[in-house]
Amino acid sequence: MNVVVLLGAPGSGKGTQAPILAERLGLPHVATGDLFRAAVRDGSPVGLEARRFMERGQLVPDDITIAMLLKRLTQDDAIDGAILDGFPRNQAQAEALDLALAERGGRVRRAVSIDVPADDLLRRMSGRWVCQDSGHVYNEHSNPPKVPGRCDIDGSPLIQREDDKAETVRARLTLTLGSLREVADHYRGRGVLLSVDGNQPIEAVTRDLMTALEAADAPAEAG
Ligand code: AP5
Ligand code: MG
Repeated sequence: MNVVVLLGAPGSGKGTQAPILAERLGLPHVATGDLFRAAVRDGSPVGLEARRFMERGQLVPDDITIAMLLKRLTQDDAIDGAILDGFPRNQAQAEALDLALAERGGRVRRAVSIDVPADDLLRRMSGRWVCQDSGHVYNEHSNPPKVPGRCDIDGSPLIQREDDKAETVRARLTLTLGSLREVADHYRGRGVLLSVDGNQPIEAVTRDLMTALEAADAPAEAG
């Protein structure tokens, strides 16, 4: 199994890079944020519950999140692995994932942290637009769509995320950075953590991520 975890602060570029890696590696892109946003759009019980936390910039409780993610990984397209974006977000989620993969004879092969300075994160999120149907990501400054207001890939309208309001962005950054360190430590301890400089053009970040993944059998960052 080829399970790759993309780690990074809100706005670091996980949702920009994950679909590119997914296509190159022939694996599905599985993003818990996108799954929650789809559930909110559908008005499902998970969506109604998740929305209460997302709109405050807080993590959705582990029981809901872990059940949703593990169910997604049982779908046929994830039989050989997945690119995980936004999961795990804390130690409990990382352990639940390890356990579920071990039951399938697998493990996280590589966790890659995309590192971006905090000031850039705020700026990136205020200019972000996402496609309504599939969550493809754009930025009015650094990564504009070819036709304003329309997704290049599926033509659906571009919208701004509810949690990209300035005050919610600040809460997300404050509330998530501690647990992100916890997850990085988890993978460092297992010898599978690498990091890439996310403060470069999108193509350069992709190149460095591919290099990190191709070095999968080489020793990871030391503890
Ligand atoms: P989620 O959707 O995962 O949001 P996040 O982690 O806050 O990350 P973002 O999606 O904001 O950032 P990103 O790293 O994907 O950046 P992007 O590629 O878009 O989670 C949302 C919420 O759901 C959470 O707050 C929580 O409530 C809940 N949730 C999700 N997972 C959960 C979990 N596991 N447990 C509990 N709750 C969970 O890029 C950002 C912008 O920058 C874009 O405009 C993009 O075009 C631009 N950009 C990208 N790369 C570059 C570059 N290299 N240079 C310049 N601009 C760039
Ligand atoms: Mg994202």
